[in-house]
Amino acid sequence: MMSDEMGATFAPRVFSGVQPSGQLTLGNYLGAIRNFVPLQDTHTCMYCMVDLHAITVWQEPQELTAATRHVAAAFMAAGLDPSRSALFNQSMVPEHTQLGWVFNCVARLGWLNRMTQFKEKAGKDREKASVGLYAYPTLMAADILLYKATAVPVGEDQKQHLELTRDIAQKFNNDWGREVFPLTEPLILGDATRVMSLRDGTKKMSKSDPSDLSRINLTDDRDTIAKKFKKAKTDPEPLPETVEGLTGRPEADNLVGIYGALAGLSKAEVMAQFGGQGFGAFKPALGDLAVEKLGPMRDEMERMLADPGEIDAILRKGAEQAREIAAPVLDEVYEVLGLVR
Ligand code: TYM
Repeated sequence: MMSDEMGATFAPRVFSGVQPSGQLTLGNYLGAIRNFVPLQDTHTCMYCMVDLHAITVWQEPQELTAATRHVAAAFMAAGLDPSRSALFNQSMVPEHTQLGWVFNCVARLGWLNRMTQFKEKAGKDREKASVGLYAYPTLMAADILLYKATAVPVGEDQKQHLELTRDIAQKFNNDWGREVFPLTEPLILGDATRVMSLRDGTKKMSKSDPSDLSRINLTDDRDTIAKKFKKAKTDPEPLPETVEGLTGRPEADNLVGIYGALAGLSKAEVMAQFGGQGFGAFKPALGDLAVEKLGPMRDEMERMLADPGEIDAILRKGAEQAREIAAPVLDEVYEVLGLVR
């Protein structure tokens, strides 16, 4: 049980979401999905394909459908068990958008104006961004708080959105004088909380990067993985002997971090093994390791994707379970607001 400042207690519950847009990357896997799995032992877990977040930018309908099933397959191939966790897509649980609207009326414009992800995604021509892209973080807060989630496993880039979620919970609780929502803790776990692009060590690895060489996709085959690591940008120096030697060498630091995350080693342990060696030796070792770790997952995803009907049935069942928790929470919120029902 988690006890917050005013003494209300909340059952240990986890929510996390992944957008079904483009290909899932090694960043999504190491920064988030992999960390979802052990939480099944300690928490009630809800893992969601956030399709309504995906449509804040244009999505081809057929690709959106395929990507939703692809994320579901990746979740299960990574070790999420639909008999223990609720796996579902956001649009199947209408309470997300209902609570999202309430939060649009709680969050302040000034708060949303500070969101760096909106600034990055909207780019220079902000006038042309969708209203949904701007309101994205309030729907995200609704995703989490609809289940009164106490913890949310995410990569580093979602930290600011989780701070906003806490601000919304706190303002809601204060304004209505009722301890409805917990102050959710972000779980930013492990050494790969920010996996960087293979073409530019200062940019995040992202499914929306125009260059496919910048990322490892979870569906890449053995040869593609090896090729992408071989072509990864590096500097001409050999690997340093110590972790401190990685400072100022973002590409080297990123590849060492990826190796460590895949092998279950700290950066220091990777340096003990490879320090002083050139990238000519390190890159093939990294490629082999990635193929060894990701290959079985890819095969399992492929097997599951051959039966989309089965995946859809799992999502429908997950959505039913999710609604069992969500509907009473939305009821409570509507009652607190004084909405006649
Ligand atoms: P999304 O779909 O961009 O990414 C899914 C998860 O992967 C993590 N991630 C990374 N971690 C390490 N290195 C990277 N290069 C990298 N790229 C992505 C993200 O941090 C995320 O955990 N807004 C969210 C989706 C969302 C959500 C939620 C998450 C909607 N509602 C509620 C948690 C709780 C997003 O766009 O994730």
